Amino acid sequence: MAQNWTPGSWRQKPIQQVPEYPDAAALAATEATLATYPPLVFAGEARRLKKQLANVAEGNAFLLQGGDCAESFLEHGADNIRDFFRAFLQMAVVLTYGAQLPVVKVGRIAGQFAKPRSSNVEVLDGVTLPSYRGDIINGIEFNEGSRIPSPERQLDAYRQSAATLNLLRAFAMGGYANLENVHQWMLGFIKDSPQADRYRKLADRISETMDFMKAIGISADNNPSLRETDFFTSHEALLLGYEEALTRIDSTSGDWYATSGHMIWIGDRTRQLDHAHVEYFRGIKNPIGLKCGPSLTPDNLIELIDALNPANEAGRLTLICRFGHDKVADSLPKLIRAVEKEGRKVVWSCDPMHGNTITLNHYKTRPFERILSEVESFFQIHRAEGTHPGGIHIEMTGKDVTECTGGARAVTADSLSDRYHTHCDPRLNADQALELAFLLSERMKSGRDEKRLAIANA
Ligand code: TRP
Ligand code: MN
Repeated sequence: MAQNWTPGSWRQKPIQQVPEYPDAAALAATEATLATYPPLVFAGEARRLKKQLANVAEGNAFLLQGGDCAESFLEHGADNIRDFFRAFLQMAVVLTYGAQLPVVKVGRIAGQFAKPRSSNVEVLDGVTLPSYRGDIINGIEFNEGSRIPSPERQLDAYRQSAATLNLLRAFAMGGYANLENVHQWMLGFIKDSPQADRYRKLADRISETMDFMKAIGISADNNPSLRETDFFTSHEALLLGYEEALTRIDSTSGDWYATSGHMIWIGDRTRQLDHAHVEYFRGIKNPIGLKCGPSLTPDNLIELIDALNPANEAGRLTLICRFGHDKVADSLPKLIRAVEKEGRKVVWSCDPMHGNTITLNHYKTRPFERILSEVESFFQIHRAEGTHPGGIHIEMTGKDVTECTGGARAVTADSLSDRYHTHCDPRLNADQALELAFLLSERMKSGRDEKRLAIANA
């Protein structure tokens, strides 16, 4: 176990982004209650995800991580979960085919409730109130009562996470994730897409592959891997009191695990080396993520890796890079070189959302072209450095929202107001998410063709 670490040792450290609960005793009582509740995930599952991520670190798999910016209590329903899962699985199939590698599937879901904010207060028409920090902390409605942090919300977040996870497990193992279904949905998307011609070639190849498998007797009836999938959950572990209450010793290994989700990550705003979040994360054995923004220096990064993954275990640490389409070329290569020079095993993942947020007509939005451009630069840079572009991390929904501009069915600045539903940052809608997968898949396929050609000509 990490030296001098306990699930509560983070309380001795400086901390950023903490809500001010008015009633400390009520908060402590809620945390004590949570500590008696069953874990949401089991340590063996977290280890399984870590193994799959080790494959990604070694260049033999690809990570797809995505979901809401912030889950909300109001939108908790079966339809939302199903639609998200459907869009996510379609992306996974397209990426699996493009990369010709297994895709590790990790949702930003069943626990993604707490939000770091750039300001402690929000001002509207001359009224100043505490900022909204996510449904696990306070309410989004702009009135004083709703903005006061309430411990009770942690219990609601726990219950919502449990119910969401339960449905997702059922979908993943109970037949909904059958590859044939997912492929049929994907064909439906293509048929209706203005970019149909562009995507058809890839879709036809997947269809042919499925037909070939069927012809030789490999079907979902006789092959569980065609009808089931491993799906994992993740969130930003920002609210450490909640996380501490769900930190448990795994009886089979004697190690501490965060049981609020399979994978948790540290945000770009809370990754100070000697502060509370790094302290908490260093002691748990889950696979973890670290958000890397433009202010992260190569030396900083190596120090953080020393603290968070001292044993250099592959799959333990995913670096989720969120630089912005115009900064990635400047920021990423030096981090890659530092990590390579030190021989550290990490998963490189690209979050093309958080560095590309702009304001249009008073809406926070993200242009699809910039998202795409950051992902493409990420791939090019890794190709140039000889490292593996391990995955992507996106904010998405299965619904037809109008939050990010662009895409084949162009969302315009003027249509943002049509269906702008997010509780925090703008998400890709189902079409935009699948489109991103297609474009990425084309890129990965051409990368493979290049490699093959080079080998053939050698
Ligand atoms: N079990 C495999 C996997 O998870 C194949 C598979 C089944 C699959 N259903 C899927 C892949 C849905 C992507 C999406 O990769
Ligand atoms: Mn966000």
